[in-house]
Amino acid sequence: MSLFHITRTLPEDATEAALRADVRHGLTGAFKTLPPKWFYDAHGSELFERITELPEYYPTRAEREILLDRSEEIAAVAGARTLVELGSGSSEKTRHLIAALTGLHTYVPVDVSESALTGAGHALIAERPTLRVHALIADFTAPLTLPDTPGPRLLAFLGGTIGNLLPDEREAFLASVRALLAPGDGLLLGTDLVKDEGVLVRAYDDAAGVTAAFNKNVLAVVNRELGADFEPDAFDHVALWDAENEWIEMRLRSRTAQTVKVPALDLAVDFAAGEDLRTEVSAKFRQEGVRAELAGAGMELTHWWTDRAERFALSLSVVR
Ligand code: AVJ
Repeated sequence: MSLFHITRTLPEDATEAALRADVRHGLTGAFKTLPPKWFYDAHGSELFERITELPEYYPTRAEREILLDRSEEIAAVAGARTLVELGSGSSEKTRHLIAALTGLHTYVPVDVSESALTGAGHALIAERPTLRVHALIADFTAPLTLPDTPGPRLLAFLGGTIGNLLPDEREAFLASVRALLAPGDGLLLGTDLVKDEGVLVRAYDDAAGVTAAFNKNVLAVVNRELGADFEPDAFDHVALWDAENEWIEMRLRSRTAQTVKVPALDLAVDFAAGEDLRTEVSAKFRQEGVRAELAGAGMELTHWWTDRAERFALSLSVVR
C-alpha cells in the first residue's frame, strides 16, 4: 500500500471554462479586471519564484522567518493529526511545520498543479516514511471535500494569498474554511501587514522588472488559451496603493487606444489610451481586522506571530 494518494476534484476542462468565463466577465464591464489566479502557468509560476527572491519582495522571507522561529510553538498549540494546506505548491515553507508536528498522521496538500503535488508528496514521504500524504488537485476557491482523516485538523493558508480575495470573496472563503473544520480545529493564516506605502509599492514594482513581466504574463496566457492578440508591450505595469481599502493593486495600463481581439469568445475589446485593466488586488491587514473577519466566520484568533520587522503575520485561530 502506498502512502501517497492523489485525488482530482477538478474536471480536466474546468480550467478552460473558468478562464473563458473570467475573461468574458472581466473584459466586458465598465472597469476591466482579470482575476490573479491566471498568472500562474508554468512561466508565471517561474516568474513568481523569482519575485520571492527579489530584494524588494519581503513577504516570502518574512513568513519563512516566522515559520522557522515558531513552528515548534505552532505545532504544540495546534497538536494536529491532519494538516491541510491550501495552495501548497512545493510545500517548501511547510516542511518545518510538518517536522514539528510530531503526532501528524496525514498531510493533505491542495493545489491546482498536479506536478507540484506529486513532487512535494514524494519528497515528504522520503523524509518521513510514516507520514501519509493525500494530495488534492483542486482550486481552493471552489467547494472542497476533505479525506476522512483523524483530528484535530490544522488548515494552513500561507503566503498572504488570502489578500488576493476581495472582502466579500474573503467572507465566503472563510465560511467555506469553517465548514471544513470541527470545533477545536485550527486555521493558520498568513497575512501581509499594512506598512509604509513606498515599501509596499516597491514590493510590487521592483527595479529589475520581474513583477512587470509577471503581470504581463496574464496577457500571454489569454493569448495562448483563447487566441487573443494582446500586445504585452502596448501596456505599462502599474502598482498602486489604495489607502482607503488598504490594498495594493496591480494594473496594466494601455499605452494607446487599441482594440484587442479574443476569438475564442468572439469578442473585440476596446481600450482607451491610459485605460487600466486591474489584474490583482493584494490586501494588507491589521490584527484587529483579521480578528474581526475570523470572528465573523466562527473562529477565534488565539495567537499572532510576526517577523522581527513586523511586516507579515501568521495567526492561529480555533473553531468555536
Ligand atoms: C502569492 C498572492 C501572495 O499578492 O503578494 C507577488 C502574488 N503579486 N507579486 C502577493 C504577487 C505580485 C502574491 N501572492
